[in-house]
Amino acid sequence: MTLGFALCGSYCTFSKIFPVMEVLAKENRVIPIFSDNVQKTGSRFGEPAQFYEKAFQITGVEPICSIAEAEPIGPKKLLDALVIAPCTGNTLAKLAHSIADTPVTMAAKSHLRNGRPVIVAVSTNDGLAGAAENIGRLLARKNYYFVPFGQDDPKNKPTSLVAHFDKIPETVELALRRMQIQPILV
Ligand SMILES: Cc1cc2nc3c(=O)[nH]c(=O)nc-3n(C[C@H](O)[C@H](O)[C@H](O)COP(=O)(O)O)c2cc1C
Repeated sequence: MTLGFALCGSYCTFSKIFPVMEVLAKENRVIPIFSDNVQKTGSRFGEPAQFYEKAFQITGVEPICSIAEAEPIGPKKLLDALVIAPCTGNTLAKLAHSIADTPVTMAAKSHLRNGRPVIVAVSTNDGLAGAAENIGRLLARKNYYFVPFGQDDPKNKPTSLVAHFDKIPETVELALRRMQIQPILV
């Protein structure tokens, strides 16, 4: 299978995300896709050049970093499935409203025209606040599948939701058979 693996700017999750990319790359061709913010924002969680190098080292593929590079994904039927992990509140909002103004949201729009699965792994502090309605919209949208998620720190971050990234491979496997892994809420 050929999988798109799109990263958005939830930088604190990257140390858990790259090992999952590695697992998927063992059995699939994986094409990394970077949001604009992943390409330009450095933080205590790492620098953009390190993320780029790591993704290239794992997959052997130069990450897609522009809308123009993401556009052919649909017309050329480049992907069997698209994984968006981590998916920020920002990207969730755009997807829920069909906005395509980043490499990641353009990849989703282009890929969805083929009726193929998009797998979303949320990571956002406002998952049970401002982003809740966007999660709800996507849950009800055709061809979207969710990696099981839950509250990561209910006491200190009562509206924060994070996906269980280790469940990504299983979620993808089922999504390719048009099934949503259960339970979604864990
Ligand atoms: C250090 C750092 C950590 C962040 N962590 C998150 C996060 O976990 N979830 C989230 O939704 N946004 C997070 N953000 C904010 C996003 O990076 C920001 O909303 C950005 O516009 C996301 O763009 P993207 O979805 O196109 O990558 C973080 C920002 C910084 C600087």
